[in-house]
Amino acid sequence: MSRISDSELLEMARKAALRAYAPYSGFLVGAAILSRDGQVFTGCNVENASFSLTTCAERVSLFKAVSEGVQEFAVLALWASEPTWPCGACLQCLAEFAPDLRIIRLGEQGEMEERNLSGLLPSAFYLER
Ligand code: THU
Repeated sequence: MSRISDSELLEMARKAALRAYAPYSGFLVGAAILSRDGQVFTGCNVENASFSLTTCAERVSLFKAVSEGVQEFAVLALWASEPTWPCGACLQCLAEFAPDLRIIRLGEQGEMEERNLSGLLPSAFYLER
């Protein structure tokens, strides 16, 4: 199986952002999550007139994967109108499946930046299972 590179994954996130439904914020976000077995699931933010029902791109990509039976992840690439890291709600959802997930994005100068989920959300909430 050919391994997907970080730059390919970032490009998939950028393309996913083109499908963002963000008429209220105008903030376009795309995510591409790479599973441990090499599959990619993309997502974009989907807003709603009832603002709190908006779903972030990261959770769309994660939930698409889980709903297709995929639960192990290696990398999440993020592209947004302005560089951002995932919000706290998305970090908590990602932590459920991938506490050590690598998260990458393009910075202000187009350079690749990387964080680990445990660094962005050091005290995620977990229950015994
Ligand atoms: N948003 C994301 O999709 N991901 C993030 O990491 C931050 C915020 C979306 C939600 C909303 O549609 C818009 O960006 C502004 O908050």
